Amino acid sequence: MIRKKQIRMCSAVTKYTMAETSIVAVVETEEVPDFTERIDHHLSLAELRENYSRARLDESDCETNPIVMFQRWLKDAQVAALKEPNAMTLATATADGKPSGRIVLLKEVSDLGFVFFTNYESRKGQEVKTNPFASLTFYWAELERQVRVEGSVQVVPRAESQAYFDRRPRGSRLGAWVSSQSATAETRHVVEEKLKQIEERFKGIEQIPAPDHWGGYRIIPDSVEFWQGRPNRLHDRIRYRRDSQDKWILERLWP
Ligand SMILES: Cc1cc2nc3c(=O)[nH]c(=O)nc-3n(C[C@H](O)[C@H](O)[C@H](O)COP(=O)(O)O)c2cc1C
Repeated sequence: MIRKKQIRMCSAVTKYTMAETSIVAVVETEEVPDFTERIDHHLSLAELRENYSRARLDESDCETNPIVMFQRWLKDAQVAALKEPNAMTLATATADGKPSGRIVLLKEVSDLGFVFFTNYESRKGQEVKTNPFASLTFYWAELERQVRVEGSVQVVPRAESQAYFDRRPRGSRLGAWVSSQSATAETRHVVEEKLKQIEERFKGIEQIPAPDHWGGYRIIPDSVEFWQGRPNRLHDRIRYRRDSQDKWILERLWP
């Protein structure tokens, strides 16, 4: 009986706004949670859409150097007080082309490239060892902007990694010693115990060396694309591509 009622209500939902579908879900979830959740989830995603109209991106607004352009957009994201504007999806792949992605934090950007720090023995570390190429994707939803970076990967010199390590809070520095990032851990307890051991090891020591397995990678870009959302899915996409003479070529891509 309840199910019949749900089917009727949910089939009518296609006509409703997002707010109304949510209300239906709240009422019905209590009675048959799995069934309702599945239907509501499906409808919600199909109805979820934004029309982007905040800004435009013209060739005449673009810098000749994509790094300068990126710094401008990153600053816009900072000025807009977005949470973690330096968060980016890092994609790497195995030597035979199986991809993986995860979020990491951009810690430096300059003419030399885009730098993040991690564990060299992690999954991403293993992947870039055999396949030294990666992509970075930034998404600043409130600004309706995306940036995609593609390029080769280099290990950051040791002294530079240590200099950044020294600026991290003590807890993060100890964390780098604790974590065998991406290896399987039996329990959370094992992780906490390892932290206690490391705290004991560095008790009273202010200057903690960065572990050998920890440091930075730099992505040296071959291509950087700036995406600005526009109405009717006809977005602005401007891509900078490095040519054989190391000059940046600016091209507009179809949305
Ligand atoms: C907001 C955010 C920031 C993160 N920043 C980093 C980072 O800078 N470096 C890092 O190694 N992992 C970072 N992580 C964790 C990674 O997403 C990932 O779990 C970890 O690096 C292991 O990835 P892997 O197994 O693919 O190597 C961050 C996660 C989130 C959600």
